[in-house]
Amino acid sequence: MIRVHATTVSRTDCGELRPRIIGRLIYGLRRPRRTIFGMDFAGVVEAVGAEVMSFKPGDRVFGMCPSRSNGAQAEYVCIPERAAIAIMPANTYFDEAVACEGAFYANSGLRQFHVGPGHKILIYGASGAIGSAAVQLAKAYGAEVTAVVSTQHLELVKSLGADRAIDYTAGDFTRIGETFDFVFEAVGKASFFRCRRLLKPEGTFMATDVGPWGQYLPLMIWSSIAKNNRVLVPLPPRGSGHAFVEFLKARMEAGQFRAVIDRRYSLDEIADAYCYVETGQKVGIVVINVAAADESAHIAQDSRIGTGPSTSIIHLQ
Ligand SMILES: NC(=O)c1ccc[n+]([C@@H]2O[C@H](COP(=O)([O-])OP(=O)(O)OC[C@H]3O[C@@H](n4cnc5c(N)ncnc54)[C@H](OP(=O)(O)O)[C@@H]3O)[C@@H](O)[C@H]2O)c1
Repeated sequence: MIRVHATTVSRTDCGELRPRIIGRLIYGLRRPRRTIFGMDFAGVVEAVGAEVMSFKPGDRVFGMCPSRSNGAQAEYVCIPERAAIAIMPANTYFDEAVACEGAFYANSGLRQFHVGPGHKILIYGASGAIGSAAVQLAKAYGAEVTAVVSTQHLELVKSLGADRAIDYTAGDFTRIGETFDFVFEAVGKASFFRCRRLLKPEGTFMATDVGPWGQYLPLMIWSSIAKNNRVLVPLPPRGSGHAFVEFLKARMEAGQFRAVIDRRYSLDEIADAYCYVETGQKVGIVVINVAAADESAHIAQDSRIGTGPSTSIIHLQ
């Protein structure tokens, strides 16, 4: 049982709260099955079951809630020991650690692409939670990264490591006269048909979901029948969350991954946070500070290694 210090409001939460056609089949036809949302959590272990070996009361932990049980937008959350949970990365505040979900989806795409040195990847929507994580992880895997964002986010994506940033408001980004091994559509706004001229003959297009009307499903079926790997909607393998949180912790400690925080709200202000995330304009993550701010800071300060300022984060507010 974890005393939650920070969580997020994500696009997953908004999608679950007001699902469209396909989502209703998954999340509940008339109303959401879950009553508490919130995928990411960071906090302090309050109590453990008799057989729990990996954690003890007082440990600072972070991770992701299992998708079928209640989430972390609450004072306490219970997480199975073998689920997506790990000891917090060193030198990290609670609100810097609630960046797992976007990175989880980004990484699952990059792994399915087998992205590595020598590959060229274009990431469309690189300022969102998934996109900003994809830029950092693709760089960590050694790829050459082109990030497509609006004017105001050009500097952000360069600071995250993108080799090149393209402003989608300044012209048609599909007509840059270059082709890529992978096009990662990370925000659900550009179609495969629009992006295909950016692909090399063997290139792959990946989207973060099947589209509001399920329009990528037939393309995925065509792609798997033709065995051409042309269109993918990667779903993280079941049970891969635990290993992923450990992986992300290592990336954060190595300085290869940092949270991009757009806004912070208290739990009392969570309705405002939902309204903001639903605009589709957040940059990186929107944090909910559950414990009182001074309490979170106090615990984080006590357990920080060293005394220097945090270097693992970009604050936009
Ligand atoms: N596979 C899954 O299970 C799964 C899980 C979570 C989310 N998703 C889906 O993945 C997508 C991304 O989620 P997210 O949380 O990363 O998104 P997000 O953080 O809400 O993305 C918002 C960002 O996208 C940018 N953006 C908005 N319109 C754009 C456009 N037309 N072109 C390029 N960029 C644009 C916005 O900046 P500007 O407006 O300034 O450009 C903003 O920074 C969503 O469609 C979500 O439903 C899928």
